[in-house]
Amino acid sequence: MTLKDIQKPVAAELEEFRTYFRSSMRSDVRILDLIVRYLLRRKGKQLRPTLVLLSARACGQISEATYQGAALVELLHTATLVHDDVVDDADRRRGVFSINALWKNKIAVLMGDFLLSRGLLLALDAREYDLLHVVSDAVRRMSEGELLQIEKSRKLDIDEETYFRIISDKTASLLSACTRCGAVSARADAGMIDIMSRFGEQLGLAFQIRDDLFDFGQTDVGKPLGIDIREKKMTLPLIHALREAPSRERRRILSLVGKSEKSNGDVADVTTFVEHYGGLDYARARMAHHAGEALRELESLPSGEARTALDNLVRFTVSRTR
Ligand code: IPE
Ligand code: IPE
Ligand code: MG
Ligand code: MG
Repeated sequence: MTLKDIQKPVAAELEEFRTYFRSSMRSDVRILDLIVRYLLRRKGKQLRPTLVLLSARACGQISEATYQGAALVELLHTATLVHDDVVDDADRRRGVFSINALWKNKIAVLMGDFLLSRGLLLALDAREYDLLHVVSDAVRRMSEGELLQIEKSRKLDIDEETYFRIISDKTASLLSACTRCGAVSARADAGMIDIMSRFGEQLGLAFQIRDDLFDFGQTDVGKPLGIDIREKKMTLPLIHALREAPSRERRRILSLVGKSEKSNGDVADVTTFVEHYGGLDYARARMAHHAGEALRELESLPSGEARTALDNLVRFTVSRTR
């Protein structure tokens, strides 16, 4: 099932969101406007606004606050991607050059700040303080997650528990904020809001494991491959393989990963190692586990078109190719 099929129950609402999203990014500063236009040409999957809309529909009715929540999360997501590409020194995003590749870090950092502030102001102007609180808390966790990741990549000493803390903070927090905002905007009761938050968290963990698996693949996903290894980012497939390997192999791979300049051969060497010691299979199994937990949370929702779509969104997340 394609993402477009999944989005069908909220297709009209997504169009309305897009209009709102576009208008929230306007600026009369020329360079800003230029970059905004560039960003808007590649819209990405818009998974987060889709989650907000479907969550609201699954819990009740889409309201004005739902659209505000959808625009807020996509603005903050875009801001963090622009910043993340600076942090990761990545030159490609959504199949085209990243902002930092075209305009350099200085401008990318300020651009990210602009988008972040637009998001916060949008919620303030609408007096949606609950949404603002939920999403701001996610942004705080995202920064903490990215910083913990940097700390660990410097020491190369990450274990599975720390990995899960990192991905919960840097990715699942925002997906959980999406499903929570959807429920809050539909005036769901406290029990339902909790279910939706847990659903988003589990989906988010599966989502980031899928993303981390991409890095070991060969297929074009619109962003650089092998970049996690180059940046000394130790993700679940590598963590597991290191655990399984005999100590001599482990030391050899660790010193490869620790090199600050890596050849393509070095990266291929690490990838082969990860595959050989079952790292990819292990990560796929953990991903399936969290997707299963997400699906289980959905069982408590009233059945209907929106719940079915969320169910399919979980399946899409773990089988997607970008
Ligand atoms: C990328 O998110 C950042 C991660 C958390 C892995 P998406 O894969 O949702 O990015 P777009 O918006 O579709 O480009
Ligand atoms: C997720 O991690 C980054 C954010 C939460 C912004 P990655 O660094 O793996 O994301 P991609 O692969 O660059 O999209
Ligand atoms: Mg990155
Ligand atoms: Mg990644």
